[in-house]
Amino acid sequence: MKIAIVTGATGGIGKEYVRQLGQKSDIDEIWAVARREEQLKKLGELTSVPVRPVMLDLSDESAYEEFGALLQEEKPDIRYLINNAGFGKFCRTEEVDEKTCMRMIDVNCKAVVALCLRALPYLTPGSKVINTASASAFQPLPYINLYGSTKVFVRNFSRALNREWKSRGITVTAVCPYWVKTDFFETAHQHEGNRIITKYEVLYDPRDVVKKALRDADKGRDMSALGLLNKAQHVAVKLLPQSLVMDMWLRRQKLS
Ligand SMILES: NC(=O)c1ccc[n+]([C@@H]2O[C@H](COP(=O)([O-])OP(=O)(O)OC[C@H]3O[C@@H](n4cnc5c(N)ncnc54)[C@H](OP(=O)(O)O)[C@@H]3O)[C@@H](O)[C@H]2O)c1
Repeated sequence: MKIAIVTGATGGIGKEYVRQLGQKSDIDEIWAVARREEQLKKLGELTSVPVRPVMLDLSDESAYEEFGALLQEEKPDIRYLINNAGFGKFCRTEEVDEKTCMRMIDVNCKAVVALCLRALPYLTPGSKVINTASASAFQPLPYINLYGSTKVFVRNFSRALNREWKSRGITVTAVCPYWVKTDFFETAHQHEGNRIITKYEVLYDPRDVVKKALRDADKGRDMSALGLLNKAQHVAVKLLPQSLVMDMWLRRQKLS
């Protein structure tokens, strides 16, 4: 059975992966991974391809065992592994309790590594791994600090893995979206402190982010970044000193 696996499938970007992958003729089933059962069950309405809800809390290491056991039982041919689950917090680093900080690292980083490794025996030449990083993966970002740092990990890990798995015919793509219109911001602002990150130059549509990500993955690119502003920022942060980039970010958010 040829399958696609999408984590964070109940969120704005994940749902869109389910919908667009459901239009591909070579996928027999989509495994949709997240915690919220009711939302997972509704995903079948988005596509004619069967969607299997896989309820996992990716901040819990036992989820990786469960995922591995499911693969062992079904022995699928994974055409797409989309590691997309993730969350961030917009505030001072110390305003988030330590447990939540560790959960962020677990979901955003550890789960990506664990699922890549568990899936490897079921990835075949032509399989695509897509890991959701972020535009925040290119520079240090005060007040989105821990989140951005997890995405630096995802971006570097994915690009290097792409080189390592090239000889297996498997591609790995780091998707680096700019701001995208999803519930991400609600979660990011659920904390004790004030709402401090308030300036969003542009909010992209998840449909466009996912369309470009799938297109770039199909071309075997190791990175996918939608939008001129996004690309311009990547170039600028390579040329400018990082301390100046941080000053500009703080000024823009009226935090300096
Ligand atoms: N929106 C943006 O501006 C933006 C920009 C750059 C990158 N990103 C990245 O894009 C990805 C998708 O985010 P989104 O914008 O679609 O946000 P979202 O709508 O908040 O979706 C987040 C998804 O992650 C899942 N998730 C969170 N914690 C989980 C856990 N412990 N176990 C399993 N699943 C968990 C959620 O599912 P449940 O709650 O049902 O478990 C949900 O499906 C994230 O990696 C995010 O960092 C977003």
